[in-house]
Amino acid sequence: MVKGIILSGGFGTRLRPLTCMIPKSLIPVVNKPVIERQILLLKSSGVKEVVLAVSVMSDIVKNYFKDGKKLGIKISYTNEKHPMGTAGAIKLAEAYLENDNFFMLNGDVILNFNFKDMLNFHKKSNGIGTIASKIVEDPSPYGVLIANPETNQLYKFLEKDEYSPLNGKIIPMPVNAGVYILEPDIFSYIESNKKASIEKDIFPKVLVDKKVYHFPITGIWKDIGKPYELLQGSILLMNDILKNLKGKRKSLTDNSADIAPTTKIFPPCTIGENVVIRGMCKIGPNVIIGDNVYIDESTIIKESLIYNDTYISKNVDIQSSIISDNCLIEDRVQLRGKNENLVILASYVKVLRNIKLIAKEGESINFCHHVEVNESLN
Ligand code: GTP
Repeated sequence: MVKGIILSGGFGTRLRPLTCMIPKSLIPVVNKPVIERQILLLKSSGVKEVVLAVSVMSDIVKNYFKDGKKLGIKISYTNEKHPMGTAGAIKLAEAYLENDNFFMLNGDVILNFNFKDMLNFHKKSNGIGTIASKIVEDPSPYGVLIANPETNQLYKFLEKDEYSPLNGKIIPMPVNAGVYILEPDIFSYIESNKKASIEKDIFPKVLVDKKVYHFPITGIWKDIGKPYELLQGSILLMNDILKNLKGKRKSLTDNSADIAPTTKIFPPCTIGENVVIRGMCKIGPNVIIGDNVYIDESTIIKESLIYNDTYISKNVDIQSSIISDNCLIEDRVQLRGKNENLVILASYVKVLRNIKLIAKEGESINFCHHVEVNESLN
């Protein structure tokens, strides 16, 4: 039976300050940790055992998933004291994975496709590995896969930002989607107890004497390495969940939500458990609210993510922002990101009344956890 390993131990520096108190792998996407969604996807493709390669904030991840019983899948963990890189991390699970081919997932991608098709392709290909690929319009920010267009066999594997388009003309290319099926032979290319990256250090060596293929995936895909990608990816996933629900629902609202009749919800939105929204508010489009959130009268929220246990007072105006758990936003506060530059509040941030945090072009506004914001930025 095929097993899976999910890389869940990176620093997540690009997602700071969101990742100062929450490990990247537990960052919520549509109100479930990103790797919980991956585990459920693997399970639905027949995978029964998953190992989580944890490192940074490993205790928080272990406490959340425990042995996996709640999700109906067996979960175990590697013992990685310091981040060993994406290859060093899987080497630690060699004894566990050495008997059969296995899935390896970067724990920071949102996707929804059937892994069984990829496994069938891999088995027929006879390669040492298959990399899921996604064709994107502008491949420059990703790891680009240069391959034989007929067989999909890879010639070259370009790291993020290494690709420069021919004659400066950007054309769609397959990029590394961060999902692999690997044969146990891969372990012979990885040294024990040495930090190494699977993309930079291992694949270039493997490609010299073994066959590696790519498999273009269908459905949604988004790497959530940066805050704006997290916002976009969450909205993408929300729309995908809505599309696949019966009954053409426009928003995902938990039954426990208490929403005043004078409040308007502009779909698509997601509203979690025990959320209270008082009268005359305007929520949406593209808003995802977690559990136990209270929103007082006449507040407006657009294009934003609000995590759990947050209190938002009256006449607040929030746009293009990510608000982590346990924040307190007082009356008449204005939080406005601009395009890709978001306003980001980490856990337990308090924003005092009348404060305005307005992002300028090219600059996002970030506040670290447990900070009290008492001065406007605009
Ligand atoms: P940045 O610091 O923002 O680059 O994020 P990151 O540290 O998560 O790195 P990157 O986005 O390249 O990681 C891709 C995936 O591999 C993520 O799921 C990370 O959690 C995971 N990862 C990266 N480095 C390590 C590591 O040393 N050990 C383990 N176990 N996982 C890792």
